[in-house]
Amino acid sequence: MLLILNGPNLNRLGLREPGVYGSQTLEDLERQCESWGAELGEAVTCRQSNYEGQLLEWIQEALEQGFGGIIINPGALTHYSYALRDAISGQPLPVVEVHISNVDAREEFRHKSVTAAVCKGKISGLGFLGYRLGMEYLIELNTTELN
Ligand code: DQA
Repeated sequence: MLLILNGPNLNRLGLREPGVYGSQTLEDLERQCESWGAELGEAVTCRQSNYEGQLLEWIQEALEQGFGGIIINPGALTHYSYALRDAISGQPLPVVEVHISNVDAREEFRHKSVTAAVCKGKISGLGFLGYRLGMEYLIELNTTELN
């Protein structure tokens, strides 16, 4: 079972800078992740919050809620939230960081991620497909670790 978290402003997908993030909505993204999960045989729970503290609590509780891994797009929190970094490093589940846009091709402040170093890895610039690739990785990792 995978937890997919989207952070601040990602509820505005489709409306927000469509030239950067595309015209599909958060609901489209979440339905897409659920259908990829069905295809890959993995249950998926999608959550979004504009509140840092809410994201921290979801990460803190994920293991006891039975999740086997987390995909997170932390939005702009990526670039400065040490609290989010500590929440990720403070729990044992594998986490993949995903960005819809290619953050390295954008403004200088987006080049730095304070969270990526405590994640298994970071996928950036591949649009919604990054979430699917992250899911495939986490499923593969859990299968390998169990065997
Ligand atoms: C983002 C990139 C961040 O820099 C930005 O603040 C976002 C979205 C992305 O998905 O490309 O909110 O994480």
